Amino acid sequence: MKWSTIAAAAAGLVGTAAAQAESVPYTDAETGITFQQYPSEDGIQFRVALPELIEPSQPYDVILQIEAPKSIGWVGWAWAGQMTYNPLTLVWANGDQVRLLPPTPYADATYQVLKGTGIKGDTLKFTALCKGCSSWMDFTGEPTTVDSTQEARFAYAHSSKPVAEPANNASSFSIHDGVGHWYHDLPAAKNPAFNTWVAKNTISPNGTSLSLDGVVGFRGLGSGLKTPLRFMERIRRELGADARN
Ligand code: HEM
Repeated sequence: MKWSTIAAAAAGLVGTAAAQAESVPYTDAETGITFQQYPSEDGIQFRVALPELIEPSQPYDVILQIEAPKSIGWVGWAWAGQMTYNPLTLVWANGDQVRLLPPTPYADATYQVLKGTGIKGDTLKFTALCKGCSSWMDFTGEPTTVDSTQEARFAYAHSSKPVAEPANNASSFSIHDGVGHWYHDLPAAKNPAFNTWVAKNTISPNGTSLSLDGVVGFRGLGSGLKTPLRFMERIRRELGADARN
């Protein structure tokens, strides 16, 4: 299939609709954060916590958490419920570290990696505060925000095949061998403890810190999936760190 065909097929409205939410409450013992969790049939958990007060149509921060078997090749979260023209959060395991795909020149999403990120036993867990996961420019260049007053249609993809260079955040990777969609209960994900949770789980700036300014998200395949190396170099210069704790 050609990229133009994929983009055209994906050029629908952002996936919100009146639907039966498929998420349930989940409290992560490690961070103390209560998320709304979608337990996918592939054994990957997708979790979101939101601030209590969100202005209508305004961008807002999210705390996200992905938990997956560490043997997974990579797992991605598509915030518009489709592959193209929206921030994609993409992580994989590299030994005892979690790697996060870095930004492209089109990225608007930034991530602050929080406690609750790492490899324990057979499990990969990634927890971050994301600015820009809830809003983006759509394929026509219009600002688009996920409506936090109702269920949101999200999507994920995963591959059993490892990325080409697991130690390299800018690694290329090949197509998924599974995708899925679900409806997430966003009103139930709101919590007045949001800011407290961020503060409590912020990693101290003493070596293991990560405030991954500029990391990550790319606007779909129209922008190309290989991350430009110059961006990686900038991230390395600015941060001198990997997505790990
Ligand atoms: C090398 C990387 C990738 C390639 C070559 C690729 C290719 C494709 C193709 C060809 C389709 C259309 C399948 C069809 O309709 O028959 C598709 C669908 C999809 N892809 Fe990817 N993909 C890649 C990476 C990703 C990533 C990183 C995500 C992140 C979540 C993702 C999420 C999806 C989703 C959710 C669908 C289902 C259709 C939709 O809802 O948009 N893909 N992909």
